[in-house]
Amino acid sequence: MEIDLSPYIQRIKNGDVVAFPTETVYGLGANAWNPSAIKKVFETKGRPPDNPLIVHLANKDRVLDFADHIPEKAQKLMNAFWPGPLTIVLKKKPEVLDLITAGLDTVALRIPDHDLARSFITKTGPLVAPSANRSGRPSPTKAEHVKTDFGIDFPVIDGGATQVGLESTVVDLSEGQVVILRPGKIGVAELESVIGKGVLISDSGASTPKSPGQKYSHYKPKANVFYGEIESIDPNNLYLLQSNAYPDQKNIINYNGDLGKLSRELYDRFRQADLHGFESVCIEELEEFKAEQPSYFAALMNRIEKARSA
Ligand code: TXA
Ligand code: MG
Repeated sequence: MEIDLSPYIQRIKNGDVVAFPTETVYGLGANAWNPSAIKKVFETKGRPPDNPLIVHLANKDRVLDFADHIPEKAQKLMNAFWPGPLTIVLKKKPEVLDLITAGLDTVALRIPDHDLARSFITKTGPLVAPSANRSGRPSPTKAEHVKTDFGIDFPVIDGGATQVGLESTVVDLSEGQVVILRPGKIGVAELESVIGKGVLISDSGASTPKSPGQKYSHYKPKANVFYGEIESIDPNNLYLLQSNAYPDQKNIINYNGDLGKLSRELYDRFRQADLHGFESVCIEELEEFKAEQPSYFAALMNRIEKARSA
């Protein structure tokens, strides 16, 4: 079914916000050159102003409107992974709005691997787009999640369920070294296959986080999130299991070690837990899949840890 994008394009041109799908999660888009539109993004989400935004582009020609220059390794990563779930942090051009970068001298850029998203951005121009959830809630992977957070009449381009389900990998190349600030589907192994050994992982517990978003509690359902060994089943909880020790039921879902599927569905399960009033979401240990699926493992553990923290 063709979606008529013109009313949404008009809204962006009028300085309003519009939610749109990407391959990772739904984004809350606004014109990257319009300060009052960007302020609406922060207001709509209830987002702390010191957490910078990712600029979404339709093609690589626009990178130098935002980035001061493109280091060789960054160029290689763009060629290999764009469009795709990789956000690249580079030194910014002076004219990039401080509202976007929270006063940092860097800017985060990505081209989403989603036809509808790229057609939209081709017409609107570059869009800032944080995940389209209220700050602290799980990121939206379906249009209905956006409406749950922002109301039934909120403008959302409905592209169905997103394919990746966890937010993009954020990688910093602004200072020579290559540092993963937020793990995602594209992990150390994928990055090193393109630029060679030496990719670092930032310590998100650092006192001055490089990726400010990583310091906030995130991705949280109202239910408690438990991660560990599952020894028994309680009907008040939702279980995300790997072992097939218990057959699938309304509150038991088996993933059989498919961490891609768990990534795709995690936030939807968190939100379902709240809809159905489950007390806890209990996620069975993933350690045994770490060696075979290291990138998904790291991305999932990062989100689960944040969802568990108070
Ligand atoms: O997959 C995604 O990245 C989604 C979709 C919509 O594209 N967007 C998303 O945006 O997750 P948001 O705002 O929820 O997360 C952006 C992350 C935050 O952790 C933020 O701190 C970091 O990117 N970030 C943005 N600009 C940065 C910069 N200049 N330096 C370091 N980190 C930055
Ligand atoms: Mg977010």
